[in-house]
Amino acid sequence: MNMLTLFLLVVCVSITLSSSLPLGYDRIYSFGDSLADTGNFLHSGALTNPVIGKLPYGETFFHRATGRCSNGRLIVDFFAEEFGLPYLPPYLAIAKRLKSEAENGVNFAIAGATALDAKFFYDQGFGRILWTNDSLTTQLGWFKKVKSTMCTTKQDCDSYFKRSLFLMGEIGGNDYNYAFFVGGTVKKVKGMVPFVVGTIIAATSMLIEEGAREVVVPGNLPVGCSAAYLTLFGTRDKTMYDRNGCLKYHNAFSKYHNDQLKLALEKLRQKYPQARIIYADYYGATKALFHIPHHLGLKNGGLSACCGGGGPYNFNYTARCGHIGSKSCADPATYANWDGMHLTETAYRHIATGLLKGNFTSPPI
Ligand SMILES: *[C@@H]1O[C@H](CO)[C@@H](O)[C@H](O)[C@H]1NC(C)=O
Ligand SMILES: *[C@@H]1O[C@H](CO)[C@@H](O)[C@H](O)[C@H]1NC(C)=O
Ligand SMILES: *[C@@H]1O[C@H](CO)[C@@H](O)[C@H](O)[C@H]1NC(C)=O
Repeated sequence: MNMLTLFLLVVCVSITLSSSLPLGYDRIYSFGDSLADTGNFLHSGALTNPVIGKLPYGETFFHRATGRCSNGRLIVDFFAEEFGLPYLPPYLAIAKRLKSEAENGVNFAIAGATALDAKFFYDQGFGRILWTNDSLTTQLGWFKKVKSTMCTTKQDCDSYFKRSLFLMGEIGGNDYNYAFFVGGTVKKVKGMVPFVVGTIIAATSMLIEEGAREVVVPGNLPVGCSAAYLTLFGTRDKTMYDRNGCLKYHNAFSKYHNDQLKLALEKLRQKYPQARIIYADYYGATKALFHIPHHLGLKNGGLSACCGGGGPYNFNYTARCGHIGSKSCADPATYANWDGMHLTETAYRHIATGLLKGNFTSPPI
């Protein structure tokens, strides 16, 4: 083979490769909880005066409270920026104007949402602590409403969603949070994992049946590194902490959920070879922050909350961020944790970069 032939061959191969890769996305549909909610909980009116509806929430980037559970942008916002799309409108804010406002995608995620239906928690006797009943089933119902205004025939819809990115979560974290907060042991909460994973898989299948071709399914965060868990489940026993100062058993629990989810996604890929089903390692991308906190300019190992009511991790349940007795830090960029449960814009930016440019998605986005 001479050099010219080789050159042409390389050119042809790279053209074929690049034309088979997606050239970006026209729109994003996001499902999930407070990690992705851009305003649904606020619009839902479930609470009359929720703290996420006022400063310091939103202080850093939007300079007003938008309903995001952070000081600024979330992972989904950085995704929108990456693909040159506007920040996703929350479904409940545009439900009456879908035709004109849902063209670049919609965010169905709502703070407090669970993967399992609210009924599950009421049946177990702790439904009262749920922030919202708008679980994954409700969010999928909202999606179907959007879909019906955008396309009709199967062929239409397949073509409409071809260049859409679906973010199925993170969802499921709250199912476990609620169970842990009412005193569930790791062993007991583990019993919920097959149901939660099954629900996420059923939702992902449904989206693919409806025409989704590119679906990102995130795993759970290392909850043992969250200021809330570190405060509520803190102990003097040093052997319960890993070298980053996180709670070992709670992190192992997140990993367990993630491993079950990955196994189930592998089966789903075989069932739907026409779809790209991408696992997003939120655990790994977040844990990376706590490996090198100083390098990233994070104080206190990255474990303390910026906004809170004091204590070793600046988390006090009765004086949570936005409530009387709490205050926000002067320099949120030096914190990974925002309010105990949620992360800062700085953390979300690092995580989004890890997902989009690093190796925390498989296959890569
Ligand atoms: C959720 O549903 C339960 C039972 O139907 C109801 O009592 C509760 O008020 C609902 N919660 C919210 C936040 O809507
Ligand atoms: C938590 O906040 C409450 C209300 O402000 C306060 O009474 C209590 O002392 C605080 N607890 C700790 C450990 O700081
Ligand atoms: C991802 O990258 C990091 C650092 O660049 C490396 O340590 C890790 O092994 C990689 N993970 C995978 C799954 O390739």
